[in-house]
Amino acid sequence: QNAEIKIDIDRTIGEVDSLIYGNFVEHLGRNVYGGIYDPDSPLSNEQGFREDVIQATRDLNVSLMRYPGGNFVSNYDWEDGVGEERPNRLELAWSRIESNEFGTNEFMEFAEAVDTEPYFAVNLGTGTIEEAQQWVEYTNYEGGTYYSELRKEHGHEEPYDIKYWSLGNEMDGYWQIGHLNAEDYSKKAREAAKMMTRTDPDLSLVAAGASNFRPDADPMHWNRIVLDELKDVVDYIALHIYVGDPNDNYYNFQSTPHVMEERTELVEGLIDIAMQDADREDEIKIAWDEYNVWYRARSGSDMEGETALEERYNLSDALVIAGFLNGFIRQADIVKMANLAQLVNVIGTMFTTPDDMFKQTIYYPIQLYAEHAYGTSLDVHVNSETYDTDEFFIGLGEQQTQQSDVPYLDVSATHQDDGEVIINVVNRHRDEAITTDLISQTGGFEGPFEVYEINGPDVNARNTFEEQPVQTEQLDDVQGGGESFTYTFPPHSVTMLK
Ligand code: AHR
Repeated sequence: QNAEIKIDIDRTIGEVDSLIYGNFVEHLGRNVYGGIYDPDSPLSNEQGFREDVIQATRDLNVSLMRYPGGNFVSNYDWEDGVGEERPNRLELAWSRIESNEFGTNEFMEFAEAVDTEPYFAVNLGTGTIEEAQQWVEYTNYEGGTYYSELRKEHGHEEPYDIKYWSLGNEMDGYWQIGHLNAEDYSKKAREAAKMMTRTDPDLSLVAAGASNFRPDADPMHWNRIVLDELKDVVDYIALHIYVGDPNDNYYNFQSTPHVMEERTELVEGLIDIAMQDADREDEIKIAWDEYNVWYRARSGSDMEGETALEERYNLSDALVIAGFLNGFIRQADIVKMANLAQLVNVIGTMFTTPDDMFKQTIYYPIQLYAEHAYGTSLDVHVNSETYDTDEFFIGLGEQQTQQSDVPYLDVSATHQDDGEVIINVVNRHRDEAITTDLISQTGGFEGPFEVYEINGPDVNARNTFEEQPVQTEQLDDVQGGGESFTYTFPPHSVTMLK
């Protein structure tokens, strides 16, 4: 096959926000306990944090870390996780016992160690608006009040000034503890926001948009009501998507990031409508604050307890994650935050035992993009052969879709002030290399281009403790000067030309 990629630095979409390279730590399975925190492991430091996980997280360039849930947060009392007394609680979202050994202050130590910005979610399930306010007072209020002084008693003199807060999690989902309808959620979220921002006016708030895309749900109804009711209060609307390949159809699966892009467009339209009579200067933005591949560990005992959601990823999954990242970049004007769910063990980028760790395949595209893919997103013209999918479910329990004209080459690009151009290409073709003319439509390229490639022996290749066939490799630079140059993208690969 042959293809063309046309780069025009005058055709811009928007600035890539570094917050699209976020991640997520939920109290779930072995994400916190046995993942980032494991005092009994020989690999942990004095505070009980896994040094290897800290290093790999730093290398992942995580801009923003969501915490503490997820479904977990909807039955979480944050006060259980601070101070001396740490009660064991029945955790009803994931059928575990929560020891509360790890809580707000431990998470903030971890966030500092991995150099990331914290993003907290408040409990709008069993929690009250007052508890949400008190958490903000504990973390962000300078002093002289009950909760700010309690923080000081707990050894943290200075406020943390946590800026990003989401108003509940997936409150549209029937599975959510304290699930509400759109009107009741909006009312509760608005009152929580009122108390939280009166405590700290600098907060940036995120509304829980639709996560329930099951066939009988009406996600756009939820989004419309929430946007209309909270349009003067929140800065982001959060959306969630999990995709999978339950029917073992590689090409259907590879098209799933386009479903995310379709949903972005729908919600962007609803934002435009809500903004028409909103009392604000800036626009509400979209936060895909949970996205990932998740379908294998998604039933029965895989959904509960100490080893829940331990998905093992292959190269095909890594290509899909690169597809999501390309989608976020292509929609950089409205998608201003995204969080891969999740960090360790639980549908995670890393997998640990008490004395070992390996990086899963999906670690690599996230790491690569978060290191390099910044600047102004370009509207790239791609001529590539395409395919049509049949009707399929994008993941377990999800709506059906059918995707037409899915390009084998999935491309995004950015341009930086210093003139650097970064071109990200997923060759979805399972068997064929695609020889491509890269054409500059505004002046010429001045190479050389650095070249990074993520690939493996076949689309089913997995990383394990013993061997990691899927990794990023830096290849020899290509000269790439003049108005065009030719590059051959190997089958089932992610390539970044920088
Ligand atoms: O990330 C796993 C779970 O998926 C989260 O707890 C929840 O928000 C979503 O349903």
